[in-house]
Amino acid sequence: MTALESEEPLLRRAVCPGSFDPVTNGHLDIIARASKLYDVVHVAVMINKSKQGLFSVEERLDLLRETTAEYGNVEVESFHGLLVDFCKQRDIPAIVKGLRAVSDFDYELQMAQMNNGLSGVETLFVPTNPTYSFLSSSLVKEVAAWGGDVTHLVPPLVLRRLTQRLAER
Ligand SMILES: Nc1ncnc2c1ncn2[C@@H]1O[C@H](COP(=O)(O)OP(=O)(O)OP(=O)(O)O)[C@@H](O)[C@H]1O
Ligand SMILES: [Mg+2]
Repeated sequence: MTALESEEPLLRRAVCPGSFDPVTNGHLDIIARASKLYDVVHVAVMINKSKQGLFSVEERLDLLRETTAEYGNVEVESFHGLLVDFCKQRDIPAIVKGLRAVSDFDYELQMAQMNNGLSGVETLFVPTNPTYSFLSSSLVKEVAAWGGDVTHLVPPLVLRRLTQRLAER
């Protein structure tokens, strides 16, 4: 039986991986665009034990779930290990990543080739919305820590939690 004849519709899945510490409007732009191209978009918060975040993994998941709820086909999970294993376990054939600038390219190309070599998973690059081409979680945290205005770079919920967190320190 071919996929076309099968009764179970095949869901087209993709994953948007990252550390999302915290999620920014740049991430959300890529996730929103992926959610229009795929039936299900998995957002994977990759756990890096050697890197202490500003937000705990649970807090990052919570912020992502709240801010992606409106898309309706986004599933948010954390994962510890190789991204290709996350993909294998969930039958995900594609990784979707935003490309901000040439500076992202070298490393992303290397990762894409490594992941493809490891398991055949494909990586698709989406050009960043120019409004967000300078935007990263690290920069948002740094600017906010020095009192800079990041209102237009993160969703309102993230702005509130970020302001709270920085005030606690
Ligand atoms: N401004 C952005 N525009 C488009 N895509 C982005 C943007 N920022 C991040 N991404 C995408 O999200 C993925 C995961 O990013 P990551 O968690 O490293 O975020 P980051 O903002 O680069 O954070 P950090 O500063 O901690 O590296 C990146 O590989 C990239 O594909
Ligand atoms: Mg990064």
